[in-house]
Amino acid sequence: MKVLLIGSGGREHALAWKLAQSPRLTRLYAAPGNPGIGEEATLVALDTDDHAAVLSFCRSEAIDFIVVGPEAPLVAGLADTLRDAGLAVFGPSAAAAQLEGSKGFTKDICAKYSIPTGAYRRFTAVEPAKAYIREQGAPIVIKADGLAAGKGVTVAMTLEEALAAVDSCFDGAFGAAGAEVVVEAYLDGEEASFFCLCDGTHALALASAQDHKRVGDGDTGPNTGGMGAYSPAPVMTPEIVERTMTEIIAPTIRGMAESGHPFSGVLFAGLMITRNGPELIEYNVRFGDPETQVLMMRLKSDLLPLLYAAATGTLGLMSAEWHDDAALTVVMASKGYPGSYAKNTPIAALPHPDADTKIFHAGTALKDGQLVATGGRVLNVTATGDTVGAAKAKAYAALAKVEWDNGFSRSDIGWQAVAREKA
Ligand code: AMP
Ligand code: GLY
Repeated sequence: MKVLLIGSGGREHALAWKLAQSPRLTRLYAAPGNPGIGEEATLVALDTDDHAAVLSFCRSEAIDFIVVGPEAPLVAGLADTLRDAGLAVFGPSAAAAQLEGSKGFTKDICAKYSIPTGAYRRFTAVEPAKAYIREQGAPIVIKADGLAAGKGVTVAMTLEEALAAVDSCFDGAFGAAGAEVVVEAYLDGEEASFFCLCDGTHALALASAQDHKRVGDGDTGPNTGGMGAYSPAPVMTPEIVERTMTEIIAPTIRGMAESGHPFSGVLFAGLMITRNGPELIEYNVRFGDPETQVLMMRLKSDLLPLLYAAATGTLGLMSAEWHDDAALTVVMASKGYPGSYAKNTPIAALPHPDADTKIFHAGTALKDGQLVATGGRVLNVTATGDTVGAAKAKAYAALAKVEWDNGFSRSDIGWQAVAREKA
């Protein structure tokens, strides 16, 4: 099978690495990719916003299957264009991608199908939003409705913070994404990321992970795209997984099918495990980054037939096998991230990968033969071990060998699981 992978992050490097191991793969292309992905795939300089150009490439190279990594092309309808042309695509339609593209849309599905989530209201004007917040009190959560690169959420511990967040949304801090605001009840508990493949009618549970969204040690500082992750998440016990599948995932799949927009692709549920059980914080319609880096290290099954089954409505026949080992990834980011940072800083050396350590590239490029950092999140140093603690020790040992002066990382990835393992 000839496959085209769309994307250029650490998530796509992990997917490319795993796809490249498939006996069913004949050729892997990636657009636009990065130097790490280039070790697994033929890179194609396609503008993925230009759907006609992507389609024309697929036709000229006789691509059998397209895997779309990031959310932006999905929300923009790339999967629709390709599917309408008769191609097999992993990733939801633009209409189904509203599960990530509009928080209000997802909240309305939750209300209709009694899916556990924080109580909420949607607002398009400042004063009614503020009046509701004053009535509810803090802590309370304010969210820009649309896609805001993970930065549109304020978990306000005080009323003042909550009111200021409403002002900044409606003042255009998140552009069009903030034209509507969702105000949501604060959920108290431990967070987990949970991934399922879906083919429109079936869902196949993959695995769980825990992300570290804050930039600083001890979960301090501003939110980022994710500074590290590990899998599995100990809080996702078999009982919680079962409840998540029946109380959250199954009604969502049914609701989407009933709405005429069946969901196919990967459903990434951001969960809060509260005293009452799993509650939905949000959906994403693509794999997590950096969660995918740890998921792919643990996946024993061939990834390609799984993704293809999700795309072609045959997931009911599939199962996924996992290694018992834990996996952990530490993100190395450019100093200054998630604020502004220097670009094109040289990465002088990377350690050699071995059977249980792997470095996935995100924002890297080759300039005159020199590997340089071009993005905020740049490298994902990933390792497996029989415990999260063991995987963590291996990942940090590899990270110590990365020679990149402008890079930094958190030093405590996995702290929750490691504390549990020691208890
Ligand atoms: P989101 O972009 O919706 O995932 O929100 C970003 C982060 O804000 C989440 O990962 C949570 O840590 C936090 N968050 C979002 N909604 C809530 C909520 N209702 N209660 C508590 N924390 C939340
Ligand atoms: N790591 C969180 C995300 O991919 O949205």
